Amino acid sequence: MAETLQKVVEENRQGEAYAPFAEDPNAFAKKFYIESYGCQMNFSDSEIVASILHNEGFGATRNFEEADLVLLNTCSIREKAEQTVRNRLQAFRKVKDSNPGMLIGVLGCMAERLKAKFLEEEKLVDIVVGPDAYRSLPGLITEAEGGQKTVNVLLSRDETYADISPVRLDSNGVTAFVSIMRGCNNMCTFCVVPFTRGRERSRDAESILNECKDLFERGFREITLLGQNVDSYYYTYPFENGVETRNVNFAQLLEMVALISPLLRIRFSTSHPKDITDDVLYTMAKYHNICKYIHLPVQSGNTRILALMNRTYTREWYLNKVKRIKEIMPDCGLSTDIITGFCTETEEEHQDTLSVMENCRFDMAYMFSYSERPGTLAARRYEDDIAEDVKKRRLEEIIKLQNNHSRENYLMDIGKTFEVLIEGNSKRTDQDWYGRNSQNKVLVFPKTDPNLKKGDYVHVKVLRATSATLIGEMV
Ligand code: SAH
Ligand code: SF4
Ligand code: F3S
Repeated sequence: MAETLQKVVEENRQGEAYAPFAEDPNAFAKKFYIESYGCQMNFSDSEIVASILHNEGFGATRNFEEADLVLLNTCSIREKAEQTVRNRLQAFRKVKDSNPGMLIGVLGCMAERLKAKFLEEEKLVDIVVGPDAYRSLPGLITEAEGGQKTVNVLLSRDETYADISPVRLDSNGVTAFVSIMRGCNNMCTFCVVPFTRGRERSRDAESILNECKDLFERGFREITLLGQNVDSYYYTYPFENGVETRNVNFAQLLEMVALISPLLRIRFSTSHPKDITDDVLYTMAKYHNICKYIHLPVQSGNTRILALMNRTYTREWYLNKVKRIKEIMPDCGLSTDIITGFCTETEEEHQDTLSVMENCRFDMAYMFSYSERPGTLAARRYEDDIAEDVKKRRLEEIIKLQNNHSRENYLMDIGKTFEVLIEGNSKRTDQDWYGRNSQNKVLVFPKTDPNLKKGDYVHVKVLRATSATLIGEMV
């Protein structure tokens, strides 16, 4: 059971891959195929890449065997994520052998981390492009078509792709992700992201607003604002006549997007416990359409380990934040990320993580054992000294406890009625709808009203629950 949940979680977090689908790829001169790994930022970037490629006359195909260009948008967060990509590349080798004209490109964080080394290590790769260099893809493709291997992994201080309107890939037409910032200035010692994604920069608020309005007009009903650390969003409008005109912080941005329409739901990810302000919490409380759900990665429940991780908060600070959230929004859903077996973590310190979990009773958690990443501060400063079997056992304990909490939290919802946004058919049967409540919990319920469709809001009373789904009926 514990393992199954972790598997699902892992798959959602970093194993999920998809191929986009264009209405008719044959209407384009050439076809591309793209698979994405890692966080939502990467999935969102793939939609920017699709837009750039569309403008170059490439249509998206779901079948890599018929593609002229195969792209992998990669993740470096844990060693396993990189291994998945390497295995996937091998699957492309056969096709490339029989179709040498097919180009293979590696995008994203692993491209950025390995740079030109990628071309040496994986001979079948033709193009290596980092997260800030996607505008150069057309030129790189032309060079690669001429038989030259190409690399562009330049990181930028200001690239936000603000003017590029993403092509929504494999979309349900109801929910969409919108990037509001790129990069990360936090130097969590375990984390490779600051190296693969570069300095933090915020996207023009006006362009975010326009993208959200456009999505709403096209029928989308839920937007998730994306960034590695959304609470530090801060956009300064250019000076006019030497005078600073206006700044927008995250709370203000949330409000601007929430005001587009009460029918448009807003979510965001990810918050850093040190940066989420009361201002943000009050803005969430003020607007019904800002979902009452926060993903607040704790990483560890022990202050010494948090300091080694350079998370810049203590156990008490985290617990106080959670208390504050519950004071301002008693019905707020909460989830987290946990790393177990970080360098020098003792058994008691591991117990502190379990006790933070007891205290916060998260609805859901992404749980990982520490994976040392080359070049990070932790890799340079500390020894990865917790044995694999100890990491594994601690992770199992954490997963088991989280499963109990999830189950209990979901059971407590039985009898309650929630407003649910219909996202589509349930995975099991097209006789049932699938949707989520404000707290981000999944609800499944029978289609009793033939007039309802995707994108509608309904009220659903919960009758039964598992540790990851609420089963109910419309009221
Ligand atoms: N920006 C987000 C997290 C991005 S990475 C934040 O700060 O919350 C997603 C999660 O992967 C992290 O929260 C962490 O729990 C996990 N992670 C990152 N680096 C890791 C590593 N080296 N080993 C194991 N897990 C890691
Ligand atoms: Fe990594 Fe920390 Fe930045 Fe998150 S906040 S991306 S964990 S460095
Ligand atoms: Fe992975 Fe890069 Fe995201 S390392 S988690 S794809 S920012």
